This record gives sequence, C-alpha cells and structure tokens, in this order.
Amino acid sequence: MASRRTSLFALVCVFVVFSAALAAVVERTFSVSSAAAAARRKPPWPDLSRRRLQVGELVVRRLCEERAVVVVNGSLPGPTIHAFEGDTVVVHVLNQSPHNLTVHWHGVFQRGSAWADGPAYVTQCPIRPGQSYTYRFDLVGQRGTLWWHAHASWLRATVYGALIVRPARPDPFPAPWSEVPILLGEWWNADVVAVDRAAQLSGGLPNISDAFTINGKLGDNYPCSDMYQLTVAPGKLYLLRIINAALNNQLFFKIAGHRFTVVAVDANYVNAYVTDLVVVAPGQTVDALLAADAAPGSYYMAALPYESAGGVDFDATVATGLVKYEAAPPSARPVAAALPRFNDTAAAFRFYAALTGLNGSRPVPTAVHEKMLVAFGLGLVPCADGHLCGGILGESLAGSMNNVSLKLPSETSLLEARYRGAEGVYTADFPDRPPREFDYASPDLTYNLALARTKRETRVKKLKYNSTVEVVLQKTSLLALQSHPIHLHGYDLFVLAQGFGTYDAAQAAKKLNLVNPPVRNTVAVPPGGWAVIRFVADNPGIWLMHCHLDVHSSWGMAMAFEVADGPTPSSRLPPPPSDLPRC
Ligand code: C2O
Ligand code: CU
Repeated sequence: MASRRTSLFALVCVFVVFSAALAAVVERTFSVSSAAAAARRKPPWPDLSRRRLQVGELVVRRLCEERAVVVVNGSLPGPTIHAFEGDTVVVHVLNQSPHNLTVHWHGVFQRGSAWADGPAYVTQCPIRPGQSYTYRFDLVGQRGTLWWHAHASWLRATVYGALIVRPARPDPFPAPWSEVPILLGEWWNADVVAVDRAAQLSGGLPNISDAFTINGKLGDNYPCSDMYQLTVAPGKLYLLRIINAALNNQLFFKIAGHRFTVVAVDANYVNAYVTDLVVVAPGQTVDALLAADAAPGSYYMAALPYESAGGVDFDATVATGLVKYEAAPPSARPVAAALPRFNDTAAAFRFYAALTGLNGSRPVPTAVHEKMLVAFGLGLVPCADGHLCGGILGESLAGSMNNVSLKLPSETSLLEARYRGAEGVYTADFPDRPPREFDYASPDLTYNLALARTKRETRVKKLKYNSTVEVVLQKTSLLALQSHPIHLHGYDLFVLAQGFGTYDAAQAAKKLNLVNPPVRNTVAVPPGGWAVIRFVADNPGIWLMHCHLDVHSSWGMAMAFEVADGPTPSSRLPPPPSDLPRC
C-alpha cells in the first residue's frame, strides 16, 4: 500500500481568455480603485490570457511517503485564476488523469451558462480520460473570493484552486498592502477515489483523512512536512482570502497574537466583524483583513476540524503555518495559538450568526412564491447487491433530503435530460415537505431506524422562472447530529435565520433578518438545527443543492432544482456546447 503508485496522471490545460472590450472597461475602473491599485502594486497577478498552463502527474511527498496525485498545473493547490468582474472566462480542461472528471466553479452564478456548472451527471457527463471540455462563463454581478474544484467522486481532494474576481468598483474596506490566498485542504494517504468506492460498496463509514493542509502544506505537527509561511511587513494590512477546500471537515482557523476583521464571505460583503477565530465550512470562503501590528516575531497559524457529530471517528490533527515578521529576530520561537475544542459548537455558531450582509448591498426579496421545508440527514438504504453489508444492521448508510436519497443518472446528465425532454431520467416531484412529520431534531429519535429508512430516487423540484423560494433547511437527528454545509449551485442564498432544535415557524418568524442577512452560497446548518434561506430562481437550468461534505454527498444528501425558462431568448437555457462530453 505504502509505495503503491497507481498510474495517476493528469494533464489539464487552462486558458483564460478575456474579452478585450470588457478588459478595457475594467482597466478604466481599475485605475480609480485604490484597492485594485494596491493589488496591482503587489503582487502582479499572472496574465492567464493566451497562456497555456500544463498540468501533469505530480508525485508529492507527504507524511514521509511518496504518492502520485491528480493535480492541475503541476501544483497543489492548483493555480489561482484571476479575473475581473464582468469578464468572460474560458477554461479548456484536458483530462489526462485515469479518472472521469469535471470541474465546478464554486459560487459562479453561471447565468445563461448552466452547461459550464460542472457537477458530474447533473449538468454534464464527465470528461473521460484523454478528453477535453471547454468551460465558458461570464462573471457578472459578483466579485470576491470564489474557487474551483473537481466535481466527480472525491477528486477535489487534490483538484482545487482559487478563483479571484476583482471588483469593478473599489471594495468597501481599507485597501490591503497585499492579498494572500489561504487554501485549507485535507490530505489522504489513501487514494481518495478508492476510499469513496470502498465506502459505497461496504455501506459503512469511509476512512478518515490523515492531515489537514494550509496552502498544500501540513506544518510541523506532522512528520516529514513542510510548513506554509507568510512573511509580513510590520504595520501593513493583508487581505487573507480563506477557502475551505477540505473534503469532509469544517475548520477553525486561527493566527496567534492577531485578530481578523472579516469583510466578506462567499464573495459577498459583510459588515466588518472582528474576531480571533474564523470558522469556515467546506465550500465557504472568508475574506479577512489581518493587520501586522503585533510585536515583530513569529506566530503560528492553525487549521483544525470543527467536528459536531459526536462519537464518530474523525481526523483530529491540526495543520500549522507561520506568520513571520520581516524584522523578527532570527531566533524567535513562534508564538502558539490557543485553540478551541474540536466540538466547540458555541464558538462556531457565534461566528456564523455574527455575520450580517453589508447594509444596502443586496435587498432581500420579500414576496415568497414557494415555501419548502427540507429535512435532511443520514439514513439507511438496502445494500447495493441486496445482501447484508457493513453499515448499520446490515444496511448501507445513506444521506437524504425529504427522505429522497439522490440517485444520479449514469447514461446522461439531468440537464441534458431536461433540454432534450428525455423521459424516464428523473421525475419532477421532489416533495415540498418531508413525507412524514416528526420532531426532526429530537435526540430521542437518533436510533429510530424506521424513520431512518430512505430510498434512492431521482426527483427534482420544479421552479417557475423568477420565483422567490424560501427553504427551511432542517437537520434531522437520525443516526447523528452534525452541522452540515449545504451548498446551492447557481445562486447565492439569503440566510435569514438559523437555530437549534426543530424549526418552529412562529418562533423563527421573530428572528428572520430581512434587513441585512448574510448572503452566502453555502450555509452551515447548526447541528440538530435549522436555517431559513431564500433565493430567486432567475437562472434556467438544473441546480444541485447538496451537503458539501463529500462523504454525505456521495451518500445522496442532495437534491436538484429544475428552473424553467423565462419569456425572452436570453432567459432560456441555451443549447449545449458542441464539445459537451458524452457519457
Ligand atoms: Cu463546491 Cu457542488 O460544489
Ligand atoms: Cu453533511
């Protein structure tokens, strides 16, 4: 196992081509933007236009072992893609890995470009080994820190990178001296695709990871490991663009001796929030200002899991990095950060609930057309081959939403089925409410196996074009209480309220924030709790909503919205691009 080197081999070419006309507009705006001017000063972003970035097999040494992993552009994390608000991004992906692969642009609205969204069997069939596909989309009406990742099996463990969209107008916070992407990841000694497959077959829990990473490095808590280091100039201001790319863990992030000012999450501005602890769930991003105003020295960064399941095995290791002042005495021992407990739900909730959308930046839609209660959680399904397997009581672990465990097609994608009107691929009858009402979050029901039994089906919820949808996301207590990051493709969500226990409409109504809710693309629903979200279905297509812990999305903790076409040519789903991969 140790030196088993599978013939993993990836070659991905990335071109980002900017329209000259749009670039000119951006250039003009750019020259009056102090934030952008600072960014231009340092560091200059690489010009990806017309540049061929090649990616191959990368043999990396981690935890004293050499392993070949699938990566983009020969680097782990993959390359940062820099673009401007309003740009058209064109990315040509050539898959020379041995796995079926897609790339998802996490948080990109994909207006009129649903074919470029990327989730396998949802908006496209995977790109087969040796084949290619060109993703083409506009970055309209959004700016900030987004990212891209593989959206097939668990490949995003190593296939991920930042997507930074520079604003057309100056950011509403002090211009930083420098910007620093901080990509948090999760390292597996095992082949992640094999881990995923083994869990599917055995019906039980998959293996856990071996380490966490900061910009691809593990730090000095682990053997044979490099440590990420950020050198800072005393008195300067840094913008950390923190991205949680980990597969299965929410993370706490700290820097000893410093506080953060959070200014944006999921590429949406928030009112400045000062904290010494950042909490970030897989799929989420946090933009935090860091002032280098401590005594010149050396300070530890730490990334550690926030694990709310209780009693379930998890990777309880801590990744470290360093913030080093230019003037630090060479012998200075780094100052260690005081860390929260792994299960500090109070700290996590404090962070999530403290965030408010920057006043006036996004008006909340008030006329609601569709109301749904989506109870989601863990469940049980019969084993794949009809025999006993290693889940619970000889059944297979599953995830579900309103008691539907999403089963994706394998011969086509949902979006192609919608476009061609193909019958028999899915039904448009995903329920608005759970089929059975019960006290969803009651701890007494944790081992209620009758309630936990679910079915693998392909059902979507149909939405009229431009309808405003309100969804109560309710975690059930079945099998485990845990906080789950629920991500919706294609839209941002207004997070109106969140709380613990079983949702009570009358109680929650008093708590709804219709003034300045945070706007996110991924909401971490509190363990054994709920969140109320709203979005406007103004983009025709098929949009996946799923838990961003890959262990759960593999189990079917997901559903999809089918958003109907609008009345005008530009509000209709366009035909698929000619190079759309075939199954
Ligand atoms: Cu970040 Cu469905 O993905
Ligand atoms: Cu989950």
